[in-house]
Amino acid sequence: MRLGIAIMAAGKGTRLKSKRAKVLHEIGGKPLLRHVIAAAAQVVPTRDILAIVGHQAEAVESAVRDTGVRFAVQEKQRGTGHAMQCAEQETRGYEMLIVLSGDVPLLRPETIVALRDFHLRERAAMTILTAEAANPFGYGRVIRRTPGAPEVAAIVEQKALKPEMEGVREINSGIYAFRRKALYENIGQLRANNPQKEFYLTDMARLLADAGKRVVAIEAAQASEVLGANTIAEMMDLDRAMRMEQARRLMAAGVTIFRPETVTIDVGVEVGADTTIEPFVQLLGETTIGSDCRIRSWTVLENATVGDRVLVRQSCAISESRIEKGAVIGPFAHVRPGSHIGEDAHVGNFVETKKTRLGKGSKANHLTYLGDAEVGAGTNIGAGTITCNYDGVNKLTTVIGEGVFIGSDSALVAPVTIGDRAYVAAGSVITDDVPADALALGRSRQVNKLLWARNRRAQKEGRKSGSTK
Ligand code: UD1
Ligand code: CA
Repeated sequence: MRLGIAIMAAGKGTRLKSKRAKVLHEIGGKPLLRHVIAAAAQVVPTRDILAIVGHQAEAVESAVRDTGVRFAVQEKQRGTGHAMQCAEQETRGYEMLIVLSGDVPLLRPETIVALRDFHLRERAAMTILTAEAANPFGYGRVIRRTPGAPEVAAIVEQKALKPEMEGVREINSGIYAFRRKALYENIGQLRANNPQKEFYLTDMARLLADAGKRVVAIEAAQASEVLGANTIAEMMDLDRAMRMEQARRLMAAGVTIFRPETVTIDVGVEVGADTTIEPFVQLLGETTIGSDCRIRSWTVLENATVGDRVLVRQSCAISESRIEKGAVIGPFAHVRPGSHIGEDAHVGNFVETKKTRLGKGSKANHLTYLGDAEVGAGTNIGAGTITCNYDGVNKLTTVIGEGVFIGSDSALVAPVTIGDRAYVAAGSVITDDVPADALALGRSRQVNKLLWARNRRAQKEGRKSGSTK
C-alpha cells in the first residue's frame, strides 16, 4: 500500500490580520509548516510529502524547500476541497492519502500512525481525526451516524450548525485519511454552497457516506495536539505549549530550569545535564549548551554553541558564535556572529566581539571592542581597548599573539600585528606592527608644568580682589 501525505498550506490566514502567509508564522522558533512537515517525515519519506501552496507560494516554498518535500500549487484559494483537487496530479501513484493542515502544528507522528492504522483496519474510504474539545466554537463538528459508533454521517461547519448540534463537542481536526480512489472519484461533486463560496473538504464526509462508502472517525489521544492556529492569540497559545513541552523534555534530561514559564526555548535547542537556566533566558535557533553551565537571567543565545562549565552572567547577547568550555561571559557582553571564545577565556562587562577568536585563557574583561581580531592564548586585553577594524571602506584584521599585554584604553588600528609576549602601553594608538617581546608606546609624552595650577589660582584671586576695591 503506497501512502502519501498532503499538507494543505495555501491559505492566506485572513484571521491573523498579517501580511505574512499563515504557515510562515512561527511557533517554537520555526514556521508552522516546518512542524507539520517534521511530523509527517517521521511517517513517510519526505519525497512522499506534498505541500499544497498558494498564497505567497514562493516564500512558503523557499522556507521549507531544504526538507525535500514536493509542491503542488493552488493558484486561487477556493477552499480546502479545492486545495485537494489541485493535488490530484501530484498524488497519482498513491493508494492512500493522509491530509494534514499546515496550521495544526502540534500533531505528533504517533497520531498520524494511529490514524493510518485505524483507517486500514476499518477499510474506510475516509477517516477523520477528531478530538473532544472543551470549547468547540469555530471548529467543524463531527456528526456520528449513531452516538458512539465509528461511522460518521457528516461534518458540519460552525456557521452551518443547527441548534440541535450545538451540544456536539467532537470537533474535526482538519486531518484525514482517504482511500485516494474514493476521494478523487467523488471530489468533483463538491459544491461551493456556503457563505464563503468555498469548496469544503469537510463535505466529502457526507458525500462519501451518502454514496455508501465507509466514513469513520478516530479520536486523537490528546485534544491539545489538534488545536489549530487561526489567530495570533491561538498561535501564541500553541507556542507556549510547545516551548513548555521542550522545557519539560530538557528537565527530564537533567537540566535545571528555574521558572520555566518565563524561559523561551526554541525546539532545536539542546542542553546538557546539570546545566542551570535562570528565569527569562532565551535559547533560540540551533543553540547547543554543554553540561554544568549556568546561564543567568536576561541572556539571549541564538545559534550559539557553548561547551561545558561555561558561566554566562546576566544580560548577554550571544549569536552565531562558539564558546569553549570553562569560559566566563558577561554580564552585559555582546558576542556577535563569528566569535570564537576559547577555553577558560573571559569576556567581561560591556565587551563586544565580532568575527574574533579569543585564545585559551585570554581575558578582555571591561569596556572593549574586538572586531575581526585573532587573539592568542594567555593574552590580557586591558579595559577600554578598541580594535579599529574599519577604515570607512574595508574591514581589516588585528592579530594579537600569545601572552600579550594590551594596556588600557589602547586603539589598535588595523591592519596591525602585535607579536607574542609584547606590551602595549596604556593609552596607545598602535598603527605599526609591534615585534614579539617589545614594548610599544604609541602616545605623546607627558609634560608636567610645575606650579602652573597654583599660579593660575593666584591670578584668579588677584582679579577678584581687584574688582571689589
Ligand atoms: C478547517 C475545517 C474545520 C476544522 C478546522 C480544524 C474546512 C472547511 N473546515 O477549518 O472543519 O474544524 O479546519 O483546524 O476544511 N487551505 C488551503 N487552501 C484553501 C483554504 C485553506 O490550502 O483554499 C489550508 C490553509 O492554509 C490551512 C488549512 O487548509 O492550513 C485549513 O484551512 P482554514 O481556513 O484554517 O480552515 P478552518 O476554518 O480552520
Ligand atoms: Ca485552521
